[in-house]
Amino acid sequence: MDRIRIHGGRALNGTIPISGAKNAALPLMIASLLTEEKLILDNVPRLADVGLLQYILGNHGVDIMVSGKRAGDEENAGQTLELSAKNIVDTTAPYHLVSKMRASFWVIGPLLARTGEAKVSLPGGCAIGTRPVDFHLDVLRSLGGEIEISEGYVIAKAKKGLRGAKISFPKVSVGATHAALLTASLAKGEAVIENAAREPEIKDVADCLTAMGAKVEGAGTSTIRIQGRDKLNGARHAVLPDRIETGTYAMAVAMTGGDVMLAGAREELLVAALDTLRGTGTKVTVTNEGLRVSRNGAGIVPVDVTTEPFPGFPTDLQAQFMALMSRAKGTSRIRETIFENRFMHVQELARLGANISLDGETAIVQGVEKLKGAPVMATDLRASVSLVIGGLAAEGETTVHRVYHLDRGFERLEQKLARCGASIERVSG
Ligand code: EPZ
Repeated sequence: MDRIRIHGGRALNGTIPISGAKNAALPLMIASLLTEEKLILDNVPRLADVGLLQYILGNHGVDIMVSGKRAGDEENAGQTLELSAKNIVDTTAPYHLVSKMRASFWVIGPLLARTGEAKVSLPGGCAIGTRPVDFHLDVLRSLGGEIEISEGYVIAKAKKGLRGAKISFPKVSVGATHAALLTASLAKGEAVIENAAREPEIKDVADCLTAMGAKVEGAGTSTIRIQGRDKLNGARHAVLPDRIETGTYAMAVAMTGGDVMLAGAREELLVAALDTLRGTGTKVTVTNEGLRVSRNGAGIVPVDVTTEPFPGFPTDLQAQFMALMSRAKGTSRIRETIFENRFMHVQELARLGANISLDGETAIVQGVEKLKGAPVMATDLRASVSLVIGGLAAEGETTVHRVYHLDRGFERLEQKLARCGASIERVSG
């Protein structure tokens, strides 16, 4: 199994190109199930999760052509995927595939809307909480689907097709909002989503669905209205830049010191996280090329943070921020309100010398002067990159095990950091 070896203590200087957003690319790829015509997606990141979803969609009968970028290519632009779901040949998504990636469960709505039936295994995904799918099932029921759960599978039927309805979520859910948006686009009449997630990836998917012929209003706000169509057409759409990758590298620079241009990054996608970072003493400036992040000399100022749905501070940056706070000049409190079990990195950061205690949903981080390299274990995607950030600042050698978690969501991580002066390499076997 691959490991990542880091010799810490070097500042980061240079340019890091920001890839397309994983969490937009996945639902956008799933949107291909909604049309017989070709959906062309540009700026798709080359990630393990994207590859797995290509495989899953292939099982349903989606033909996929990939061009524009090969593994290891250095250029900025991502790959282009041409997805063509002319014929859906299989409406079952089996356990051995869905259990590897939670977002693959989201195929259920589009399959149901397009063919009138779907059988999809209950999902797996990162071990960060219980992560139920009750809102997803409510979406399907509201739109007229009949749902049965049997032997670990959700079996959905809609013999007479789906129709628009009012869907009101008790809690903001990114995935359930995507599910409602995708499915309602191919349902009869108008659907209204209340308490919708406002994440930029929702707006990106809505823009693509609009290009495919659906009428979507209000994406990016809490109320979204969708006029579904009997048929959707093909379209071409470029995936927006990854705000979590942006925030991760910004925190890495804040941690090590240095001066890095995050090329292609957009400030409006992560205002709360950047404001927090500025509070730590890190300089963030907007340029034509992207976001320039620097910190020179001064110590890291502790800042308290609470994770919230967009536009709040994202849960997907909580672990990285905790790594940064582990070296702050004082104490910070980090409260996680989205997932109940998203503190698995605490024990591993402690192996590097961090001083963190847990009090329910709050981590109390007492900054230490130095971290020291150690072997550590990645437990989920964002937790694993927090260990990389820790390792970049730690004295001596850090080895991050179970790197496959990182490969799910960070494209060419070692190359991007090494080109900015980090001593980081992948060790195979
Ligand atoms: C998405 O997950 C992201 N995944 C996650 O990113 C991200 O952490 C999360 O949104 C929150 O921003 C993708 O976009 C592929 P939710 P999702 O539904 O959609 C509860 C990463 O590292 N809930 O917004 O699964 C749930 O338990 C990943 O890239 C229900 O109760 O998250 C949680 O407490 C990890 N019932 C809250 O809602 C449901 O049916 C928000 O979860 C669905 C969710």
